[in-house]
Amino acid sequence: MTTHPATPDGNHLDLVDVARSFNGVEVLKGLTLSVQGGITTAIVGPSGSGKTTLLRIIAGFDSPDSGTVSLQGNLVAGPGVLVPAHRRNIGYVAQDGALFPHLSVGENVAFGLDRRAYPRRSARARVVRLLGMVSLDSSYADRRPDELSGGQQQRVALARALARGPSLMLLDEPFSALDAGLRVATRKAVAATLAETGVTTILVTHDQSEALSFSDQVAVLREGVLAQVGNPFVVYTRPVDRQTAEFLGDAVILEADLQGSLAYCALGAIPVRRPSCQGAVQLMLRPEQIRITEHGTIAGTVLETDFFGPEVTVTIRLEGPGPAGAGGEVITIRHWNAAMARIGTRLRLSVVGEGVAFPGAPAATRSV
Ligand SMILES: Nc1ncnc2c1ncn2[C@@H]1O[C@H](COP(=O)(O)OP(=O)(O)OP(=O)(O)O)[C@@H](O)[C@H]1O
Ligand SMILES: [Mg+2]
Repeated sequence: MTTHPATPDGNHLDLVDVARSFNGVEVLKGLTLSVQGGITTAIVGPSGSGKTTLLRIIAGFDSPDSGTVSLQGNLVAGPGVLVPAHRRNIGYVAQDGALFPHLSVGENVAFGLDRRAYPRRSARARVVRLLGMVSLDSSYADRRPDELSGGQQQRVALARALARGPSLMLLDEPFSALDAGLRVATRKAVAATLAETGVTTILVTHDQSEALSFSDQVAVLREGVLAQVGNPFVVYTRPVDRQTAEFLGDAVILEADLQGSLAYCALGAIPVRRPSCQGAVQLMLRPEQIRITEHGTIAGTVLETDFFGPEVTVTIRLEGPGPAGAGGEVITIRHWNAAMARIGTRLRLSVVGEGVAFPGAPAATRSV
């Protein structure tokens, strides 16, 4: 690596103005991101937004057209500099896992081990331990990759990457082929392993709840730049714009008239935290902020319900006056009790917490 002055704040990774085009199409348009050592960052974004491209540039399998990549203050990609992938001490689990088909599972995992640190006997024990970390028992070691399910192959790829003891781990949708239960269990086991070893981790995922629960920092990639970077709670509760809000979960969007720090809408006067605009706005609330309560001040009628097991989504036409006294807006919220929300029932609602106001034209459509 080319030695550069160490970043004073101890960042593990610094991307500055990273751009990359393919066939004249700009995929990354000058992306800047800092990642502190030891934390987990989730990168989310629509399909084709450049998430894999970004991981490949960090890993050293691809290089940026312009901009710089630094690891622990050392420039690894930039004008005239390109440190090869094997000298970056990065673990990379590709989107498709990519195991060596001619090697057994155990040999695949052992491939990542440093031979000097793990002579034959202890290598076997280490492989078994690594398989255990990804919830595979030792009997899998002698199987071939094609004898495993897609989810099991993903977990072997993860174990192989962990074997190297990397200081930075890049995971490209590593849990995508797992079923819901196994996915949560594996995610927790992997998070614990990564935290234990203090590895800085970057995870690409399509799963909103995975991004929010797995990470210390969420980065939303859209149109070649990061629309927002922040801790999961902040990004979820205070998204910078409507698209980001909708990307990270369900959102209720209402037309509102913002006066000072109160937004007047069909749900009444809703407090808005540090508003950046006034007048006609789109007000965003998360569905769980709207509760069905006997003494709620807002009335509405159930139009539609959808049962999901632990909860039911309830679509309601509001009676409250909108900003122009219109009312009649339709929202979708969640409730635990399907029996309370039959079609045609008149309900009372109350709102908890603050809303977020986005400037601009009134919403043409409602969002659910
Ligand atoms: N080697 C390449 N040659 C040409 N185009 C490429 C290449 N790699 C990526 N692209 C294009 O760059 C864009 C971003 O691709 P990328 O794989 O980074 O997306 P992604 O965000 O990982 O998507 P997904 O969520 O579907 O995995 C796509 O339009 C893709 O077709
Ligand atoms: Mg991808």
